[in-house]
Amino acid sequence: MSKSTLILYKSKTGFTKRYANIIAKETGGTAMGCKDGTPKLLASFDRILFGSRMHAGRIDGLSKARNLFQKNGIKLSALFVTGAMPNTETEAIEEMWKNNLTSEELTSLPHFYMQSGLCYEKMNFIDKTMMRVFSFMMKQKKHKTPEEILFSEILARSYDISSEEYVQPLLRYLTEDSSVKEHQKM
Ligand SMILES: Cc1cc2nc3c(=O)[nH]c(=O)nc-3n(C[C@H](O)[C@H](O)[C@H](O)COP(=O)(O)O)c2cc1C
Repeated sequence: MSKSTLILYKSKTGFTKRYANIIAKETGGTAMGCKDGTPKLLASFDRILFGSRMHAGRIDGLSKARNLFQKNGIKLSALFVTGAMPNTETEAIEEMWKNNLTSEELTSLPHFYMQSGLCYEKMNFIDKTMMRVFSFMMKQKKHKTPEEILFSEILARSYDISSEEYVQPLLRYLTEDSSVKEHQKM
């Protein structure tokens, strides 16, 4: 029997929500904004995934979600994080995981990064201001490397580098996880 999957997400400009909806469609699961995730509802699913965005080096809402799960004795099955940084930035992504996850989570919580982009049109005032300040600081920096020049230009406007291909590693993990559990039951 297939597992009921809840994909709980925090999304401000829509990228994480879009990825959550793809995961829900592919797994036959339910995607839901984290504000609607009551303890009673969470307990009614076989497995729960949490997705959020990168925000100035931090995984937005992870501490709060962690507390909610711990308080209610829920084990998170997987975590996915979206960000403006391309998936090819493997070292920076590794560093990001190290800075955000506990040593236990690093080894026991499956975690996946999915590149997304930036959407200035849907950003709130604070985020827009943070991005403009960051972009300005990059522009002001003396002796920029070619990568930094490119980076400051990229960050100045909206772009979308999200794709269904970045969901595939997570989907493969979920399929394998289901078949292992099914096998163990036999
Ligand atoms: C203020 C701000 C800070 C951000 N910081 C990072 C960051 O540190 N690393 C990164 O890869 N992306 C960063 N981003 C990009 C977002 O993580 C990206 O747009 C994300 O997919 C947004 O998710 P959402 O559309 O679900 O809200 C930042 C965006 C904003 C607005």
